Amino acid sequence: MSDGTFFTRDRGWHPPAFAPGYKTSVTRSPSRALISFPPTLSEQTGPVFGHDMLGELDDDLLHNYAAPGESAIGPRIIVYGRVLDEAGRGVPNVLVEVWQANAGGRYRHKKEGYVAPLDPNFGGCGRCISGEDGSYSFRTVLPGPYPWPNNGNDWRPAHIHFSVFGSGFAQRLITQMYFEGDPLIWRCPIVNTIPSREAVEQLIAPLDMNRTIPMDSRAYKFDIVLRGRRSTMFENRPEGN
Ligand SMILES: [Fe+2]
Repeated sequence: MSDGTFFTRDRGWHPPAFAPGYKTSVTRSPSRALISFPPTLSEQTGPVFGHDMLGELDDDLLHNYAAPGESAIGPRIIVYGRVLDEAGRGVPNVLVEVWQANAGGRYRHKKEGYVAPLDPNFGGCGRCISGEDGSYSFRTVLPGPYPWPNNGNDWRPAHIHFSVFGSGFAQRLITQMYFEGDPLIWRCPIVNTIPSREAVEQLIAPLDMNRTIPMDSRAYKFDIVLRGRRSTMFENRPEGN
């Protein structure tokens, strides 16, 4: 912080690594005390990505995998927001990547086992770079919920996976965004590993009628807070490091 203010992390805001209701966390969580490694120079200074590498349609999942003149099937939405630091200031030049299931809840992945069909015009990945005020925006379809083998009949709420990349190779954070009004959110074993209802609500994007495109797309707003007491819950930083 340039003004010297330090915002400590609230560890109770983040889920424990070991959460038996989310079965794969049992074998993935560490069973011994964590060891702290100082970052290496190459981790802090190594190149991450070239800003000129992004294509024209990278932020448009409606069209970036579609045949010319066609678009993805499903409810058309805009997902937008800002990448913010702990003091609420926008963070520019962050690579924001998203991936999601199609409108039927199906991923384009060779290990995907759900019976819902693929959409030939939907790939499910996109990326953009945050602007000077930290703002980002994507066009896509509303993803469908999908079942997963946890306790036999668990369903993921509709969600979009987010990755944010900073200025160094080791600065990558990953989280998920949910949609206002989805009854599956509070039934999800993964969501329920997050101890605080307020932290879950921070992952739920509200419908924003002011940013809709009439006769075209609804809009959902999702701000990402990188750190501090009210950081977005990042699933790859569950220990609060
Ligand atoms: Fe997913």
